[in-house]
Amino acid sequence: MTDLNTNTITTRSLGIGSEGIKDQYADGKAAKVWEIFIGDTNSRTQTYRNFLVGLLRARGCKRILDVACGTGIDSIMLLEEGFEVISVDASDKMLKYALKSRWNRRKEPQFDRWIIEEANWLTLYDDIKDLVGNGFDAVLCLGNSFAHLLDSFGDQREQRQAMNNFEKCVKPGGLLLIDHRNYDNIISSGETASKCLYYNSNHTVDIKTSVLFIGREPALVTLDYLIDASSAIKNSYTNGNENSLSEFRLSYYPHRLEVFKSMLRDAFGGASEYKIYGDFKTLEEAPVPDFYIHVVQKSMQA
Ligand SMILES: C[S@@+](CC[C@H](N)C(=O)[O-])C[C@H]1O[C@@H](n2cnc3c(N)ncnc32)[C@H](O)[C@@H]1O
Repeated sequence: MTDLNTNTITTRSLGIGSEGIKDQYADGKAAKVWEIFIGDTNSRTQTYRNFLVGLLRARGCKRILDVACGTGIDSIMLLEEGFEVISVDASDKMLKYALKSRWNRRKEPQFDRWIIEEANWLTLYDDIKDLVGNGFDAVLCLGNSFAHLLDSFGDQREQRQAMNNFEKCVKPGGLLLIDHRNYDNIISSGETASKCLYYNSNHTVDIKTSVLFIGREPALVTLDYLIDASSAIKNSYTNGNENSLSEFRLSYYPHRLEVFKSMLRDAFGGASEYKIYGDFKTLEEAPVPDFYIHVVQKSMQA
């Protein structure tokens, strides 16, 4: 278990996912704790549900690609709302939970049709070319997922490669929705909001923030989540210890808003339409949000 008092910053797991990339969820324990962290599949906040479902419906989106489906929480919400969903993720340990939900609900037609695949953003288009067709109405990369892709070469080339792959999966006129925590604020304040806008989780006790600088530049943000797992799983995970606190550590690339915007513009081209929301509101309403949500509409000419 991670020592929350350690001064040494390491990523919590350097396991290798089945897709061959570093998978911070690879030991399976993180996936299990993630399930506890996010709560059950009905525990998305109503604000988040209204924002996502409302936006997709208003833009006429029907066929959705969730590129960071994890345990399937967003995908399940969208299936229940009647969307056609294809879900991918690089972590087989996370996908295990999505596959289990599909199996348990296979008698519901939309779950029977739910396609779940392993795929890595760095090779995404090639991994799922046959499923892309003319492109998806919307591609989603949500839940602070994109920041899991660290910067191995120091020039963000892999993040650009992933964004280019996302762009190739969006149909002309379709949308990319991609989010990240407000790392500008995390870097300047040294703190991370423990209340999550996305999940109605009652389990988060604390999030401890560490920022690693290389030279003057912030290179890595490590969050140590302290989770109260006692009320969630009283069986194998807690071994009957009802006061069990669980820690898990995840490391993220600290995306600066202005740089992120310009990478997205490069991937989608100048003719695309671009809007940023903060905590599901306009940036006028939420000038210093906890999360930024970028909505890019690919040009019809693309
Ligand atoms: C924070 S979880 C979020 C999952 C889900 N969207 C949610 O909100 O619960 C991030 C997910 O991104 C996936 N991921 C990270 N890097 C990836 C990559 N290069 N390719 C595909 N998936 C990746 C992880 O395996 C993990 O399941």
